Amino acid sequence: MTAIQTAPQLGGGYRHALRLETREAHDRAEAVFARFHDNPLQEMTWFLSVQRAALIGLAEARIPEENRICEVVLEDLIERLDFDLAHAHVPAVSVTADRPLAGLAVDYLVLGSRLGTKVVRRRLAKLLDHYEMPTYFLAPSAQDLWRRHCQQLNEIAPDGSMARRITDDSIHGFGLFEKAGEAMRV
Ligand code: HEM
Repeated sequence: MTAIQTAPQLGGGYRHALRLETREAHDRAEAVFARFHDNPLQEMTWFLSVQRAALIGLAEARIPEENRICEVVLEDLIERLDFDLAHAHVPAVSVTADRPLAGLAVDYLVLGSRLGTKVVRRRLAKLLDHYEMPTYFLAPSAQDLWRRHCQQLNEIAPDGSMARRITDDSIHGFGLFEKAGEAMRV
């Protein structure tokens, strides 16, 4: 999917640069889920398990002194995945980041990925009734936090060391979804 081309105008600040610099990493992570797109109902448990493993990896890559505005959203998503997978017999897989990740990188991944989930939910709505829909897809929109996050990104100098760190950590974080996909390969 041409995920990155569908977003509205981004301006020329660090938020725009981050999107461009992580585009390949996004597309690799998105490609992991191709089998879910081909067969959403059959691959649902697999999809949810991969999301769960990767989101727990992001949750645990916390730097205690760095605030993450996605924290409540992240906790809520993991709880929803726990609920959705409660009766599924899937192996517990865990993936961990090699290092703690910048709070803003985790915000970017968690809040940004909600944009893609919206697209997936629209597709699923044609296949599942509301009561059949995994609660993961029924999480409230995080649009306001995403907007606030984009403002925060634009306050960062695009060529500074902070920007470098957020970009590197975002790419590393995207890699957790690839790792989780490999770990859950059956
Ligand atoms: C299931 C496969 C995926 C699909 C179909 C998908 C789709 C999309 C789409 C359509 C957008 C753009 C939405 C918009 O601009 O309105 C987007 C953005 C984004 N997605 Fe994905 N995505 C997928 C997987 C992922 C994964 C695994 C991550 C990992 C965290 C992720 C993180 C992001 C981020 C951070 C953005 C924001 C990009 C930006 O504007 O800077 N996506 N995705």
